Amino acid sequence: MSVPSIVTVVGSGTMGPGIAAVFARAGSTVRVYDISEQALEMARTMSTMAEGVLEQLGGTKAAGGSISFHTDLAESLAGTNFVVEAIPEKLDLKKTVLADVEKNIGDEVIIATNTSGIPVTDIAEALTHPGRFIGMHWSNPPHVIPMIEVIPGKATDKKFVTELVDMVHGFGYEAVLEKEKPGFVENRVLYAILRECLALVDEGIISQKDLDICVRWGIGYKLAVVGPMRLLDMAGLDIYSSVATYLNADLSNRSDVSEFATDLVAQGKLGMKTSGGVFEYGEGDVAAKRGEIIKQFIAVRKALPAPLSPNQI
Ligand SMILES: NC(=O)c1ccc[n+]([C@@H]2O[C@H](COP(=O)([O-])OP(=O)(O)OC[C@H]3O[C@@H](n4cnc5c(N)ncnc54)[C@H](O)[C@@H]3O)[C@@H](O)[C@H]2O)c1
Repeated sequence: MSVPSIVTVVGSGTMGPGIAAVFARAGSTVRVYDISEQALEMARTMSTMAEGVLEQLGGTKAAGGSISFHTDLAESLAGTNFVVEAIPEKLDLKKTVLADVEKNIGDEVIIATNTSGIPVTDIAEALTHPGRFIGMHWSNPPHVIPMIEVIPGKATDKKFVTELVDMVHGFGYEAVLEKEKPGFVENRVLYAILRECLALVDEGIISQKDLDICVRWGIGYKLAVVGPMRLLDMAGLDIYSSVATYLNADLSNRSDVSEFATDLVAQGKLGMKTSGGVFEYGEGDVAAKRGEIIKQFIAVRKALPAPLSPNQI
């Protein structure tokens, strides 16, 4: 399957609207379903904004794409060719909703979950036809980051894995195929970085501001151009091995959450959604910061090799 003609996005919070916009730009008729009318109202604005960002990114735009919004599950699923689920990260909720989804679609329609790390095999237990169920982990913001992790569960049929990878390529994104592992690859790497960063802040080794500057220029800028495997070749595996011999043992391996993060959560400082977290945001600052970040994402992505081009690694 290349890009499906009808796509149903189940759940329209942070991720759903951007996912919908990507499919609509690729020419799909997209139906967004949510139990909350308020969430759908927000999703209208967010998907329009995502479409604007996609326009600025300037990739191919296929004719005929559209997005509609639904509070009736059966209506959103009638005749659909592909379902992507983006509801909250709760195993029981996903199982209940996906069992309902399955009652309204054909046996060969792929159901993909955007779970951030719940084992696909565990969610699949709720389904009568688990062979068509698969992990499709988009990175946030989904309309900006052109890479999707594809994670088959134990029961996933190989033909649907191939179909999903072809579909992802069809809308111009990279698809990386993985075996099941808690958190999947992207979040495992990210959380290893975040654990070390928070440990350094907890220990007072560096300020929050300097840590962001150090990681953005020293690591982020580099990693946007060369991945960690290529970086090993650039640094020299002998150098890596000798540094790792003494450094690995000193890196954070704590299994609980850092005090710094725990304290902020206890104070209700959750980040941009509460106007304060690691940094403070005054009136209008959040919107301005988000706008600035998206602008930089667009500029950096335009400077990098296009997804699916041969010089990706
Ligand atoms: N936010 C991220 O950065 C991110 C990144 C990658 C993957 N994910 C994963 O994507 C999924 C969705 O995450 P999110 O951040 O968009 O969540 P969210 O909480 O922002 O949105 C979830 C939406 O699902 C709706 N919903 C709740 N119960 C529902 C039901 N029974 N039927 C239909 N809709 C229902 C809610 O009204 C809400 O609009 C999660 O599994 C999450 O782990 C999130």
